[in-house]
Amino acid sequence: MQGAQEIKLRIIGMDKIYDNGDGVRDINLDVYNGELITMLGPSGCGKTTILRTIGGFLTIEKGDITIDGNSIAGLPPEKRPTAMVFQSYNLWPHMSIYENLAFGLKLRKIPKDEIARRVEAMLEMVKMTGSQKKYPGQLSGGQQQRIAIARSLLLQPEVLLLDEPFSALDAKIRMQMREELKKIQLELGITVVFVTHDQEEAMAISHRIVVMNKGKFEQVGTPMEIYDNPVSKYVASFIGEMNFLNEGDTVRAVRPEDVRIQAGRKEGAVNGTIRTVMILGHYVDVNIQCGDQVIKSFIPRTEITGLDVGKEVYLEWSRSHSFPAEGTA
Ligand SMILES: Nc1ncnc2c1ncn2[C@@H]1O[C@H](COP(=O)(O)OP(=O)(O)OP(=O)(O)O)[C@@H](O)[C@H]1O
Ligand SMILES: [Mg+2]
Repeated sequence: MQGAQEIKLRIIGMDKIYDNGDGVRDINLDVYNGELITMLGPSGCGKTTILRTIGGFLTIEKGDITIDGNSIAGLPPEKRPTAMVFQSYNLWPHMSIYENLAFGLKLRKIPKDEIARRVEAMLEMVKMTGSQKKYPGQLSGGQQQRIAIARSLLLQPEVLLLDEPFSALDAKIRMQMREELKKIQLELGITVVFVTHDQEEAMAISHRIVVMNKGKFEQVGTPMEIYDNPVSKYVASFIGEMNFLNEGDTVRAVRPEDVRIQAGRKEGAVNGTIRTVMILGHYVDVNIQCGDQVIKSFIPRTEITGLDVGKEVYLEWSRSHSFPAEGTA
């Protein structure tokens, strides 16, 4: 994202409540031009609901949605400057890849040779050159999802909506796809609203993340802001690894990488005994039994000398967060 922070998409005081009372309430969000923003949260928290209200597949009860300052809330999906990609590949199985990609452009009466040129360029962008004559059934899941994204991008939407587009793919392909999406997004400078329940995926690709909890926004911020300064116990437990230490009315949250292990005992400190030491490549995962709690520490591999299982230690941390004990985590 470069340049001035111009607002592309705006959601203002929006409610979308289903007949049974579920849904999302009082949603307010500004998405900047060229930004990739991610809705992150557990199943049922309302991610898809928000995406569908932006795409026009659901009508809203209250509030407004604007793109470039114009309300789109009353428009049907095809009249909105948005395009949506779903979790399951929604390519037309009886059409070739070329026909799948060209379809939307034909509807817009774009000349044939221009369509061919754009399709070719887009296939190159998603690394699917040469697949024009194939049918969706002849492609892998990852390849089909590349085509689905290509088809959406060919419509040149102002805002691209992606609902867990990679969740049906295996871990390795998913990592590859997220890197490529990030690259394409930067190259085109397109505004993207991405939905996932995978915190690592959200951290990896987003300019900002919206952490959702039961139909509400819990925190909006850059991946680092959310990682370093979670506003609630819920956010702290959802993003990255976290130790929670009970301190009566409050809970102290400490990242494993902030826990330092010192040999011996110390009055007033958290004392414990090393329970496990696992070398995981460049860092070591050490679990320390402290009373009835187990605290996790990540330390560089170069610092494990002398930290053997059964050794008595005390813990210190450079950084921690305190939350009320009563929490939603
Ligand atoms: N058509 C519907 N009618 C009634 N309730 C619905 C409908 N669609 C979703 N809900 C409910 O609204 C809430 C939010 O659903 P939504 O699909 O937005 O969640 P989500 O965050 O996308 O979850 P997932 O990660 O499982 O896809 C859930 O409690 C769900 O049961
Ligand atoms: Mg969903």
